[in-house]
Parts: sequence; C-alpha cells; structure tokens
Amino acid sequence: MLGLVFGMLVIMLASPKLAMAGFYGDFQVEPVPDHVIIQSDSLLQLTMDKNSGGSVVSKSNYLFGYFNMKMKLISGNSAGTVTTFYIFSDEANHDEIDFEFLGNYSGDPYLLHTNIFASGVGNREQQFFLWFDPTADFHDYTIIWNPQQILFLVDGRAVRSFPNNEAIGVPYLKSQWMNVHLSLWNGETWATLGGLRRIDWNSAPFVASYSTFVGDSCFDSADSPCMASKWWNQAAYQSLSTSDASSIQWVRENYLKYDYCYDTKLYPNGFPRECSNRGF
Ligand SMILES: *[C@@H]1O[C@H](CO)[C@@H](O)[C@H](O)[C@H]1NC(C)=O
Repeated sequence: MLGLVFGMLVIMLASPKLAMAGFYGDFQVEPVPDHVIIQSDSLLQLTMDKNSGGSVVSKSNYLFGYFNMKMKLISGNSAGTVTTFYIFSDEANHDEIDFEFLGNYSGDPYLLHTNIFASGVGNREQQFFLWFDPTADFHDYTIIWNPQQILFLVDGRAVRSFPNNEAIGVPYLKSQWMNVHLSLWNGETWATLGGLRRIDWNSAPFVASYSTFVGDSCFDSADSPCMASKWWNQAAYQSLSTSDASSIQWVRENYLKYDYCYDTKLYPNGFPRECSNRGF
C-alpha cells in the first residue's frame, strides 16, 4: 500500500497532467453501463453474451496524447469476439486510432488488428500476432499521438508508426478531439479467419479485463505541462527513433500477418502515399 501511494506520488510529481483518477474518474461508468463490471477503480471488465457486448467511453476528450491501457483478453474459445481500446472523434469525417483484438479457438493465436482513420478515410489495417499469450496476463497497449507521429506500442515495444505525411499530401490527425473507447463486440462475420470461425455461445459470457488506464493530454485543460511530457517534446518522439524503427522491423519480420501497404486487391491502382514514407 505504501509502495503504491509512493509510486503515485512520484508519477504525479513527474508529470502533473497524468490522469490518475481510475475508471470512475476517467470513464462514464455511473450508472454502471450494461455488460460492464467495475471490480475496482483500476479494474474494469466488459462482458458479452447473446444479448450484447459492453462498452464505455472516457469523460475527457483529447487532442494529442499518450494513452496506455493494461488489458487481459478473453481466455478459451474467443473466436468471433472483438475486444477494443481505441480513440475516436465523433464527427462526420472522423479520426480514429484503433487497437482491436480478434479472438480465436482455444490454443490458436489472437490477432492484434490496428487501423487509423484520418478525415474519415481508413483502410489502413495492419495485423500482428503477439509474442506472448495475451489471455494469460495483463499487458500494456499504448498509443502515442503527437503532431509529428502516431506510434502503437505493445509492452513498450513499437509495433507500428504513422508519421505526419502532410508534406506529401496525406491527411494527418491534428484537429479533431478524441474520446477513449473500450468495447467488446460480436465480430464473427469477419474477425476470425474472415468469418469462418463463429462465436461459440456455450463459452459465453466472454470477459475482457482492463486495468490502470493512463491518459495524458496537452489540451484537455488550461494548463500545458505536456510540454514536460517526453512523448510530446523529446527528440526521440519527434520522429521515429532508431530503436523504435528496429523494434518495428523485428515485429514485422516475425509477427506481421497483414499490411494494407501490400494489399493489391484493396489498392489495385497504387498504394496510399504514406506507404512509401513510413520511417522504417
Ligand atoms: C486464428 O488461428 C488461425 C490458425 O492458427 C490463424 O490462421 C488466424 O490468423 C488466427 N486469428 C484470427 C483472428 O483469425
């Protein structure tokens, strides 16, 4: 307990803008939404049965930010389920940055499915297998989003980058405020082997666990201590660092399942411009 209090104090001193409030402070959970279980301020579960899945939305919205969620995915036969942690602007031509986890039969691997929408245009999926069993323990899933780049990290290891490529005409996410969303939903028509593996309702209710959210933004209040936040202003985060680039290469060599930048069916007339300038 003392250790925890001390740890929180250190974090608060180091970065005053870190949202340390926990699920009650950070998410719209009162009254508790359907198919949501709040075990504690730092442990939230979403459930899904035949009636529906569950979802929650952050109270704050964010323009740029560092977002970290610890997640433990559905164990056993999770085929057809989709568990998400994403940020989304609820506007006509919306922006969105997605972590989605596609379930599988027991013993077969989960897929991490990522996407980015800029000004309403998505079709930027990348999918990865993971180098651990995401159902056995909590792991960190992180989005870093600043004016120069977007990074996806898993346990602190970069898996994907999306640099600001406005110079070559690619829209960038820089003006729409985003909320954080968590959801568990039925994606059985597409998620697992393109819909071949459907949901096994005998395994329901499905339970996905989320812990210890951190959302650190520059522009969600009057002060601007984000200038002290490393994701915002350290040189290492202004462009893809060599260590993040080699991490991405390692992940791609060993765990990449799908990359839109190689999908000639999706892009018969040439790939999006950012495909030739991704920094790794
Ligand atoms: C599920 O397992 C199969 C067999 O290993 C694999 O091909 C597939 O990519 C896995 N994940 C999903 C979401 O389909």
